[in-house]
Amino acid sequence: MAASIEYVVRRHDLLDFCKRCMVKVGAPVDHAVSLAEVVADADSRGHYSHGLNRLRFYIKSYQFLSQKEHQEPTVVKESLATALVDGNNMLGPVVGRFCMNLAIRKARSTGVGLVSVYRSNHFGIAAHYSMMAMKEGFIGIALCNATPTVVPTRAKQGVFGTNPLSVAAPANNNDSFVLDMATSTVAFGKVEIKHRLGEPIPEGWAVDDNGQSTTDADTALKSRKLTPLGGMEHTSGYKGYGLAMMVEMFSSILSGSNSSPNVKHPNPQQETNLGQCFLAIDPGAFAPGFEDRMSQMIDHCRGLQPADGETEVLVAGDPERNHTAMCDKRGGIPYQESQIHYADDIAKEYGVDPMKRCQDSAVHD
Ligand SMILES: NC(=O)c1ccc[n+]([C@@H]2O[C@H](COP(=O)([O-])OP(=O)(O)OC[C@H]3O[C@@H](n4cnc5c(N)ncnc54)[C@H](O)[C@@H]3O)[C@@H](O)[C@H]2O)c1
Repeated sequence: MAASIEYVVRRHDLLDFCKRCMVKVGAPVDHAVSLAEVVADADSRGHYSHGLNRLRFYIKSYQFLSQKEHQEPTVVKESLATALVDGNNMLGPVVGRFCMNLAIRKARSTGVGLVSVYRSNHFGIAAHYSMMAMKEGFIGIALCNATPTVVPTRAKQGVFGTNPLSVAAPANNNDSFVLDMATSTVAFGKVEIKHRLGEPIPEGWAVDDNGQSTTDADTALKSRKLTPLGGMEHTSGYKGYGLAMMVEMFSSILSGSNSSPNVKHPNPQQETNLGQCFLAIDPGAFAPGFEDRMSQMIDHCRGLQPADGETEVLVAGDPERNHTAMCDKRGGIPYQESQIHYADDIAKEYGVDPMKRCQDSAVHD
């Protein structure tokens, strides 16, 4: 059994580290804070693939951003309930915060706000934005396109990004429904993990260059072709294909941004020009008692008798809530040694003080 050290990083220290790194490469403090908050939310919700792990990606993409003279995204077209925004090629979390705040303001006066944005960048976890609206008592929705890896049912080529969507709704006593999901069967990171372990991937995660399902992690890693949510056609992957196109419609087609097939990884020559969509809906504009009925539905599902071998029935948002509660109990976010080394390498590379951490316990794997 190999021993590895586990560390715990207080949210405040993670925020501080991310902020210092971004400021070091020239980001304004409030932009660095917006990015740091998305990173911290991802890790405290247990989505480590979208948190600290992406910090180097965010630093490097910031260095590529060409439109640094703008302090905020720009509203280019507006009605009482809608807005089209130019993200001015700013950091995704800065654009997302701007757009969701605008959608919330509109929902406050009209009952609904829909903001569509082009020239944005990777915004991290979609729930960060849907939950901004939820914290104000609204239903929040956030959608985004991404680099093409998802292959439409019956095709060979990747067309869609993992195009995430999130819907968050408030219930009583701070309870909530928070659906936050990629529209692919799995994220590419899960294929990479299987490959590292030398294990096959489950049937229906990815296809080879001929569009045939593969269980070979090496083939999947090389083809970089994921199935839409549901897998192949015989397991209803076409429903995920439809959802991926729906996200595309709300993000790129509505805003006029790049559609997923044209989205490139950030580079100095070309903007990624991602499209995103943010909605805030005031339940108060509809039948009274939304939170009560939301709670009843959530409680009904959680109260169901679990299937044999299971201990509890969850609703969307519960796994992340449990992870956040675990972090609170431990006084911070747990990280493996390799993740701490990764942060230390970034600190060295960019000449900032290392992230503060406490050695929590020796764990065995
Ligand atoms: N910005 C981007 O380009 C991008 C792209 C893809 C994914 N993402 C983000 O990656 C994160 C992970 O996405 P994912 O699809 O791997 O998430 P996931 O598969 O872990 O979870 C998807 C949803 O299912 C819910 N869930 C999980 N287990 C459940 C259960 N037993 N019962 C009921 N509900 C359950 C979760 O609460 C969540 O809402 C998300 O935050 C997403 O926004 C971002």
